[in-house]
Amino acid sequence: MVVGSVLVTGGTGYIGSFTALALLEADYKVVIVDNLYNSSKEVLNRIELICGKKPDFYEADVCDEAALDKIFAEHPDIDSVIHFGALKAVGESGEIPLEYYRVNVGGSISLLQSMTKHNVSNIVFSSSATVYGDATRFPNMIPIPEHCPIGPTNPYGRTKSTVEGIITDHIEAQRNNATKKGEAGGEKWNAALLRYFNPSGAHPSGIMGENPLGVPYNLLPLLAQVAIGKREKLLVFGGDYESKDGTAIRDYIHVLDLAQGHLVALNYLRTNTPGVKAWNLGSGRGSTVFEMIKAFNAVVGRELPYQVSPRRPGDVLDLTANPTLANQELNWKTKLTLEDACADLWKWTENNPEGYNQEPPKEFVEA
Ligand code: NAD
Ligand code: WQD
Repeated sequence: MVVGSVLVTGGTGYIGSFTALALLEADYKVVIVDNLYNSSKEVLNRIELICGKKPDFYEADVCDEAALDKIFAEHPDIDSVIHFGALKAVGESGEIPLEYYRVNVGGSISLLQSMTKHNVSNIVFSSSATVYGDATRFPNMIPIPEHCPIGPTNPYGRTKSTVEGIITDHIEAQRNNATKKGEAGGEKWNAALLRYFNPSGAHPSGIMGENPLGVPYNLLPLLAQVAIGKREKLLVFGGDYESKDGTAIRDYIHVLDLAQGHLVALNYLRTNTPGVKAWNLGSGRGSTVFEMIKAFNAVVGRELPYQVSPRRPGDVLDLTANPTLANQELNWKTKLTLEDACADLWKWTENNPEGYNQEPPKEFVEA
């Protein structure tokens, strides 16, 4: 039995593919739209190997409203969208900000316009903890609750906070317009703004993970590259932070827990019709860079080389979530630990040193 149909933009990417898998496992029909800018169609085979079902796939750009119109017209059963499709490199966003605004903001507007034409009224949006900027500038805001004032410090973060605002305005307008016209059903317009902390890890099977082909800039994929011999050592950005060991603190959340967060947020929108809600998706546990190196060393079974270097511009001391709202309202909590994330990432890296550019490991194809 199909419980609902969802369009997943950016669904062949890292978090999108895990969410597509979670949706299929929960008996949703999944239609993916992705322009493959940062992903590979091979992930569709991996999803099928794991759960026995394959999402529908359209290669198209989220900025192409006509292409989105065609997809919605072909799938009139779709009532919800999970919107991952975006550019996500913080550093690059400072070099080509207009491109980030075009894709992240422009793409979201095209999507909302097309959704509205086709009466698709629920949207779950990939926001980011980066919208908070440096929360240590406020007293008592670590761990960070959703009511912490936002203040992104880079163009990427500003695209996310801008889209949060656009979605909020649009959903409120749709609801108000329905009321003004005396129409029933305005409450079907709903949005979840999911602020993820630091997604990490891979599928425990070892056949799905973050595609390591580009140059990674996140801590754990870089550590994995050191461990597999693609990189000589890890540069630790800053050893002089005011933390217990001098390195910066982040809230690492396993991608499987994150995918479940999307599923429960979607279910919440479809059953509780709350309007617009922002939820932090994090574990509530902060870990330093040194603690992450130690955890990764433990799964690899040796000491990985690192060197403490100057702070990375734009980095902040502490981004740890207060996830109480999601715990209570969505009945969602992280179940997996950062040790699980390290173990799963290492299995994925060892099994697929070339990511999705290679066949899946033999035992899976033969199983
Ligand atoms: P990703 O790059 O793996 O996935 C993004 C997907 O969007 C890719 O498959 C890419 O090909 C696709 N895409 C890019 N531009 C597109 C376009 N114009 N049209 C259609 N598809 C397009 O990244 P991810 O880590 O899976 O991130 C998913 C979402 O979550 C993004 O919106 C990102 O900003 C957000 N996010 C990521 C993190 C993180 O650390 N990974 C943290 C917070 C928020
Ligand atoms: C984690 C910690 C680094 C690399 C980014 C985005 C954020 C969100 C998640 C999208 C920091 C340290 C890292 C290295 C290091 N993405 N580090 N050496 O910066 O917390 O968050 O990804 O929304 O917006 O900014 O993640 O993995 O880059 O860094 O010491 O080679 O590891 O300084 O303390 P970050 P990260």
